[in-house]
Amino acid sequence: MSFKILGTGRFIPPKIVTNDDLSKFMDTSDEWIVERTGIRERHVCTEETTVDMAVEAAKNALENSGVDPSELDMILFTTSSGDYTTPANACLVQARIGATCPAMDVVSGCPAFLFMLDCAAGYFARGRVKKMLCISAERMSRVLDWDDRNTAVIFGDGAGAVVLGEGDSYLTSRLYVRGSTIIQIPNYDGKSPFYTSHAETPWVHMKGQETFKFAVTRLVTDIKDVLSDTSLSMDDIRHIIPHQANLRIIDAARKRFKTREDLFYVNIDRYGNTSSATIPIALDELNRAGKIEKGDYLILSAFGAGLSSASCVIRW
Ligand code: UT7
Repeated sequence: MSFKILGTGRFIPPKIVTNDDLSKFMDTSDEWIVERTGIRERHVCTEETTVDMAVEAAKNALENSGVDPSELDMILFTTSSGDYTTPANACLVQARIGATCPAMDVVSGCPAFLFMLDCAAGYFARGRVKKMLCISAERMSRVLDWDDRNTAVIFGDGAGAVVLGEGDSYLTSRLYVRGSTIIQIPNYDGKSPFYTSHAETPWVHMKGQETFKFAVTRLVTDIKDVLSDTSLSMDDIRHIIPHQANLRIIDAARKRFKTREDLFYVNIDRYGNTSSATIPIALDELNRAGKIEKGDYLILSAFGAGLSSASCVIRW
């Protein structure tokens, strides 16, 4: 027993920031951003918090699945840009949607949504849950150094959620970690009069090119690995939903597999990189557009801080 996806949801803050908007206060251009990343615009919070977005995405997914909050046995939540270190952001969602079940955060950078699904599969396998809510919400604009054009142009805000029920849709998964701080958001170092060193500022720091190489290698390797765990071939897959970090990373994987043009889902042009929320947002877009049918096979694949990566195969 693993799980099946009963419903999906998302929340995207309404404020759109285009590349041209950024170039008004940063040494960058629409041409550079589109050519190097594929991003044309991103949505940015003006008053919404990470938990606010999570609550809206959660309600949306619950409605889509026809599940009442009182039926939930567990809520998991991923974020790199939460409102609190403690309490877990999941606890605040629990209260606001009127659920009574246990709730906790799972931290694992951009691939966290897939690490969370793997944790969820374990709860189903042990028979501990019948219905579960998994949310990824990111207010990346809060953790960006807006003076750093290397990172500020890449990320965006948003949230995605899924409601899971008992089933056998989660066919296989691979998780990978090679511990490193190549991408990091250090914590505030505190005010202890006894502590002798000072950490970097609590913003996103990323070595772009090293991350890029890691991303392409893991995307290709992880997709191959999960496919080889099943008896499926690439022709059997309806959609591959890759983490939306850079269109050039997705194109590199596309070329490596020589797949049809639209097999890899792309929405980075509209949202930028919403960290752990990219995959559930994309999943909800496809689901609500009626582009996933019962029995379809999907590959979800993500990479990022950790360094970590994860992939899985899901039968809809
Ligand atoms: O979700 C987590 C995982 N994250 C990723 O997978 C991100 C992986 N990395 C990337 O996507 C790319 O490395 C970036 C988009 C971050 C950067 O693209 P790049 O092609 O690797 O550029 P670069 O860092 O090599 O910089 C090339 C040039 C530099 O100028 P010089 O030194 O050649 O004169 C940069 O200063 O582009 C400059 N540059 C910019 N120019 C205009 C860097 N950022 C900008 C910018 N606008 N926003």
